[in-house]
Amino acid sequence: MSLLTRRRLLRRAALSATAAGAARTGLAGATAAGLAASATALGGCDSPPERDTDTAPDGGLRFPPGFGWGAATSAYQIEGAAKEDGRGESVWDTFSRTPGRTRNGDTGDVAADHYHRYAQDLDLMRELGLRSYRFSISWPRIQADGSGRPNQRGLDFYRRVVDGLHERDIAPMVTLFHWDLPQALQDDGGWENRDTAERFADYADAVFHGLGEQVPVWLTVNEPKTVVQNGYLTGHHAPGHQDEAAAYLVAHHLQLAHGLAVQALRASGVPGRVGPALNLHPCYPADDSAEAAAATRLHDGYENRLYLDSIFKGAYPQDVLDDLGPDSRMARGVRDGDLKIISSPVDLLAVQYYTPIYVTGSGGTVRRWPTSEADWQQIYPQGMYDTLTRVTRDYGPVPITVTENGLPCPDAPGPDGTVDDAGRVAFLRDHFTAAHRAIGDGVPLESYHVWSLLDNFEWNEGYEQRWGLIYVDYPTQRRVFKRSAHWYREVIRRNGL
Ligand code: FCB
Repeated sequence: MSLLTRRRLLRRAALSATAAGAARTGLAGATAAGLAASATALGGCDSPPERDTDTAPDGGLRFPPGFGWGAATSAYQIEGAAKEDGRGESVWDTFSRTPGRTRNGDTGDVAADHYHRYAQDLDLMRELGLRSYRFSISWPRIQADGSGRPNQRGLDFYRRVVDGLHERDIAPMVTLFHWDLPQALQDDGGWENRDTAERFADYADAVFHGLGEQVPVWLTVNEPKTVVQNGYLTGHHAPGHQDEAAAYLVAHHLQLAHGLAVQALRASGVPGRVGPALNLHPCYPADDSAEAAAATRLHDGYENRLYLDSIFKGAYPQDVLDDLGPDSRMARGVRDGDLKIISSPVDLLAVQYYTPIYVTGSGGTVRRWPTSEADWQQIYPQGMYDTLTRVTRDYGPVPITVTENGLPCPDAPGPDGTVDDAGRVAFLRDHFTAAHRAIGDGVPLESYHVWSLLDNFEWNEGYEQRWGLIYVDYPTQRRVFKRSAHWYREVIRRNGL
């Protein structure tokens, strides 16, 4: 791989994916200089909630009957109880306990203590009026070392959560892998090792049988791209590697794991629906030169088509394969029949939208819009519309659920104890409006999950970034509905804005 390509990939990784890499490296800032809008550190958070959207006036926007208003979390970010009931170690335990890897040395050891407080959290969800709750299963709670007989105590915990959701009339949506790979599998090569994809299918099968018919929707792998970019290019996420040759082999094995899990569900006879959870970034040229157009096309290949085409068209995009070269570890790692497995028919696509990307003629990236506290995130609701409509246009009418979208704000209780996150209200209203417009233009969007239900462990940003609708006071673990939670409850009640 040429040095130029390598630089491009690292820059790309820094500007996309999660908060972690970009915020800590400052790479995003370095590339942003030229076109940067006058972003402030609090971008979006101090906007007045009354601000008009550019797409529709407040009021009168109704979503389709039964629309699945939801919120999302993931196991390592909220559960804590890192050593309880037979849970093994994950790569995130190792990573976060390694000095210098996370902000303030924060770990998920306690997090939002959800493992012990799940019943109270389920009550909060009911109070919020949620119709759908997306959460993930911790693989090392089910198989401490990543293989073998499932740990019944782990399965029991998730069974209690699933049953508790049904009791409250909230539909469970379960992600099988949200980055907490058992450390024992990492020790054997992690996602560089093809066998990890087979192990994943076995684990998935254990969960399908353990939770069975109680789960209407399964999501396989959360944001494979973030594992590739932050875990293997920038190294700001577990396992903390900087190895571009390995990165795209990892991408292939994650896609393979997805496909094998889909096949495992079908073979199990468990009736749930299944799909991938992909973070998609709409890519736009930074100017109207032919060079920028070409670079944007390739960028889109790495950001979006690598994951979408393989699943929905049964082929990796040729421009990306050409760019990686025929001798890349990825190209050598793809075996006959793999793409058939990866493109096993799915029932829905889970889309996670946070930010657009603007690409220059030289393959660099620049910012156009104010950023949030997570400096990789430009606030651009139109990107939600563009992403949803693009998926439907290019991949057909597959049902879509938005499984993540949200904003970090420097939330803190005021003197009267309330948390006034007016900026998050404005952000969500603008993005809901964009999604509503996409539905009107034919996108089969069935549900929308705000990231996140609760403040939580934001990977290598630790506890500093607060993304929740519900404030968590970590020393006491007290929960407080933020203004956005009160507002969201009304949205759900009215089924619209
Ligand atoms: C996504 C992750 C999620 C959270 C949000 C802010 O990329 O899937 O766990 O970190 O970003």
